[in-house]
Amino acid sequence: TKPLSVHYRGITMPALVHSEQSVRYAQQDFIVRDRDVFNLTYPKSGTTWMQEILTLIHSDGDPTWSRSVPSWERVPWIEQITAAGYLEMRPCPRLISSHLPCSLFPKTFFTSQAKAIYMIRNPKDVCVSLYYYAKMSSFLEFKEDFGEFIDMFLAGKVLFGSWFDHVKGWLRLRDSKNVLLLTYEDLLKDLQGSVTRICQFLGKDLPDPAIDSVVQNASFSTMKENKMVNYTLVPESIMDQKVSPFLRKGISGDWKNHFTPEQSAQFDQFYQEQMREVDVKFSWD
Ligand code: PPS
Repeated sequence: TKPLSVHYRGITMPALVHSEQSVRYAQQDFIVRDRDVFNLTYPKSGTTWMQEILTLIHSDGDPTWSRSVPSWERVPWIEQITAAGYLEMRPCPRLISSHLPCSLFPKTFFTSQAKAIYMIRNPKDVCVSLYYYAKMSSFLEFKEDFGEFIDMFLAGKVLFGSWFDHVKGWLRLRDSKNVLLLTYEDLLKDLQGSVTRICQFLGKDLPDPAIDSVVQNASFSTMKENKMVNYTLVPESIMDQKVSPFLRKGISGDWKNHFTPEQSAQFDQFYQEQMREVDVKFSWD
């Protein structure tokens, strides 16, 4: 049987949609264009949400595209096997996703004018979301015991490696005028304000009714009903949404329902050690 994972320079990715060649293509051959817009995330940090927001902004609030084409085709991942087919012939501005760490990102990005939004989510909630994702997916390694899963997460033995390395790597670019740093929690607190910030960053001047439409169509409840983004197009043998829906809860702080006080304290201590060198404070609790 085919192995579940692909390994590339210390990073593990699901073999379902990645190959060594596809990741090498992203890193070495993909040519970034100045008008490209990147949606960068560690997994389970709001990738799908940003795919929807960027699509809707691109369409001036008109939901036709987001309701007729799957999200992974509208804002494809550069590291996946389908990237070249989806992206090479596409007119600019292209909307592109990636979970790659900064160290494996296309070299041409760093000399381009392309814009990138890096979205960060409370790692405890990322860990919980990833736990359920692994549980419902046939293509991820799963540990039934949540305590063991936390250990795997902290050790970076999960898809796309360590959350800490990913975040620290991308945070180094945060002062670049072409990088916008957002948190999942910012979007939850104020989606309208966040969409407005994203529009300003992209130089896209949308009238208020268009902004309202972006906000309404990118809400959790609307996305959950949209089969082009809720992953129900993926066969049940690959993602079993009866085990856990892909758009699961869409809240912050669900970690409190999963971590014991000891697990939380141990996580916090590891976080402090890892993030000591980073002078950014996030407003999650
Ligand atoms: S993936 O597999 O890496 O692409 O997953 P990703 O999209 O990054 O993360 C999935 C989590 O994001 C939540 N989500 C949302 N939350 C609030 N509002 C909206 N509109 C929204 N869309 C997606 C999704 O529910 C997953 O989080 P959990 O905590 O599991 O619910």
